[in-house]
Amino acid sequence: MTRGFVAAIVTLLIGFSLLRAEREQSQESPLVQLIFPKEFGKPTLPIDNKLTKERISLGEKLFHDTILSIDGTVSCAACHVEEFAFSDDVDLSRGFEGRLGKRNSPPIFNLAWKNHFFWDGRARTVRDQVLQPIQDHLEMAANLNQVLYRLNRRKSYREDFKKAYGPAEITSEMLSLALENYLLTIVSGDSKFDQSLEKKVKLDPLEDEGRRLFFTSHESGGAGCSECHSGPHFSDFTFRNNGLRPAPDLNDLGRYRVTGKEKDKFLFSTPSLRNIAITSPYMHDGRFENLTEVIEHYNTALHQTPTLDQTSRRASKSCRKKSAPCLLTSSDRSPVCRGC
Ligand code: HEC
Ligand code: HEC
Repeated sequence: MTRGFVAAIVTLLIGFSLLRAEREQSQESPLVQLIFPKEFGKPTLPIDNKLTKERISLGEKLFHDTILSIDGTVSCAACHVEEFAFSDDVDLSRGFEGRLGKRNSPPIFNLAWKNHFFWDGRARTVRDQVLQPIQDHLEMAANLNQVLYRLNRRKSYREDFKKAYGPAEITSEMLSLALENYLLTIVSGDSKFDQSLEKKVKLDPLEDEGRRLFFTSHESGGAGCSECHSGPHFSDFTFRNNGLRPAPDLNDLGRYRVTGKEKDKFLFSTPSLRNIAITSPYMHDGRFENLTEVIEHYNTALHQTPTLDQTSRRASKSCRKKSAPCLLTSSDRSPVCRGC
């Protein structure tokens, strides 16, 4: 049973695919359409930054280019590695001059269905988000004017921006729009779990038992995970305190840093669990190396603070009473399943 639970978390939620945009025939502007499972519902795409092939490839080029950092050593892709669903494999990422960041690098996919970005939700749109790492002194530490100066001096970038956004000097807005265009096309929705919903594959009995536990409330004998990790994205996109003991060296107050409200202390954005097999370590500070430790946390170790989510509290109690379905003792990592 416990192995089934792990199998579900792992097998249901892994499966990584970039369903890269498909071109729609149009004579004026070759617009690009996203392909995604219908359960996702309608994505929120900006009307003033329509997806085009030129913009996407420009954004992709910028994402991988160290030109955006102060000394030309760090690119976005340094901390958002495609192989790890655009996260990285360390607890806290290192930026310019190896400076240690304060949070774990989250994976990047399905941003067109999200309504806030960063662990504390401080950016409301992708275009607001993307300029922050460039200027963050622990990440790329660059000065925006300097970056724009460099981009404007490069003939290839002048041409790329011209094709994407028309003939004009490259501005910070154009830079953010190009990165936004690219990031919005990263879609992940073809895991074994998705395929089982479409009846293309069958979950094996252990996986199916794990699925049942994941989606069943504690009151009904399940693990209650989908109370927060709900819907096709395995997240209800709200901020919660899931009972982590605050790390003294980081003193991260989470959502409180954005709102200044007591009720938001230690709340973090509920992450999607898609691709979870390739995004370790886990949580906002990467404190857990593997899924065994994650489940152990939910099962036994919730840290009591006034903002602890009631759902977690109930989960903890119920798990202690009937530990079998909640405990996890089997191995942590599973084979990576890419788009299978
Ligand atoms: C030094 C490592 C590092 C670099 C370089 C970096 N990031 Fe990040 N990125 C992070 C970390 C850490 C977070 C989470 C920070 C937080 O929540 O406060 C993050 C968060 C994000 C998010 C939010 C995802 C979400 O779902 O909330 C996006 C999008 C993103 N980065 C894109 C970029 C882009 C675009 C660049 C390049 C311009 C970039 N990052 C450069 C480490 C990095
Ligand atoms: C009360 C809401 C809630 C419930 C219930 C819940 N989670 Fe979470 N989960 C969160 C939040 C919030 C985070 C991020 C916390 C942080 O980093 O500070 C998280 C993080 C995670 C992560 C780390 C993801 C990553 O990318 O770092 C995993 C894995 C996870 N939860 C699995 C589970 C499982 C399995 C269950 C059921 C046993 C569960 N969660 C129940 C809210 C919840």
